[in-house]
Amino acid sequence: MNESKPTPTLRWTGDSIEIIDQTRLPAELAFISVRDVATAVDAIGRLAIRGAPALGAFGALAVVVGFDEAGANSLPEARAVLERLRTQVGNARPTAVNLRWAVDRTIDAALAEPGVANVAQMRRRLLDEALAVGAEDALACAEIGRLGRVLLADATVIATHCNAGRLATAGMGTALAVVYAKAAAGEPVRVLAAETRPLLQGARLTAWELADAGIDVSVVADGAMASLIARGEVDAVIVGADRIAANGDTANKVGTYAHALAAADAGIGFYVAAPTTTIDAAVPSGECIVIEQRDPDEVHRAGSSRLTPAGADAVNPAFDVTPARLIAAIITDAGVLQPPYNHSIARALAAAGGPG
Ligand code: MRU
Repeated sequence: MNESKPTPTLRWTGDSIEIIDQTRLPAELAFISVRDVATAVDAIGRLAIRGAPALGAFGALAVVVGFDEAGANSLPEARAVLERLRTQVGNARPTAVNLRWAVDRTIDAALAEPGVANVAQMRRRLLDEALAVGAEDALACAEIGRLGRVLLADATVIATHCNAGRLATAGMGTALAVVYAKAAAGEPVRVLAAETRPLLQGARLTAWELADAGIDVSVVADGAMASLIARGEVDAVIVGADRIAANGDTANKVGTYAHALAAADAGIGFYVAAPTTTIDAAVPSGECIVIEQRDPDEVHRAGSSRLTPAGADAVNPAFDVTPARLIAAIITDAGVLQPPYNHSIARALAAAGGPG
């Protein structure tokens, strides 16, 4: 494993947010400097920054950027700015609960009693809270890695979908934290990264960050994973999550459900790795999770080439829901949760004092 320190996915520079532009990977490692809310919302919408925990850490800092940009002169004006940002940033994408949660947490900290005396104090509260969101996520990732390594001690070939690595979090990832922890402990590990059509987060991002870390990774066409699993070529499947309902049903990148079905049929473990901040206890089950529908053009095209004939339509749900019954365990920073998830999730949230 390559031990050199990876480039952070997002970073507060003192007056702006610097993010890796994930639309440009793996061709080039380029950065975007985010100094206004329009750039932040655009970066979220285009998936220049993406992955539920990274969206939370970024959204919290985007509130600070938006607050600075607005230049409120009084506390009533500042409160009105925050309510506008709550909607503008918090609604930039619908499925990853971390975004809404982190934006609300940051704004609510600034509005909490005892109240602040002036706009400068309010800004200090916002920044402290926003930085805490990212710092806590990094710790959660490390704990997920530690627990996942113990749970998956016997797994060498790990399949994953989308990117749930350092590019998707403020730390070492969720699903990929387990891989990094195994590699750091000197255990053999090989990753099969499903390519993740249409935007290829697996082929572009997971393969890039694992190769960068010196970890053995092979990209697999989405449709090929089931037969590899059936042939016994995969020891376990681990994915991240965008929103986990109170009963354990899990929304993640579209295509995840198919891997879970294949894992169940082959009798291998299908695991979700996510911080407790991705659990939404207010949502009872998967059918209540809002699934983002994206531009059909993402399906029609690969890069600048059109793949589909004119006259053919396309549908582009960005996520699907894997039912709790297909999930062997949910690896969180508050422990490894086992079915029945209604109970284990409620206990974990109470212990974490967390959202929902
Ligand atoms: O559309 P994306 O790239 O934001 O989707 C990301 C995923 O589905 C990830 O698997 C999920 O957010 C977990 S990231 C640790």
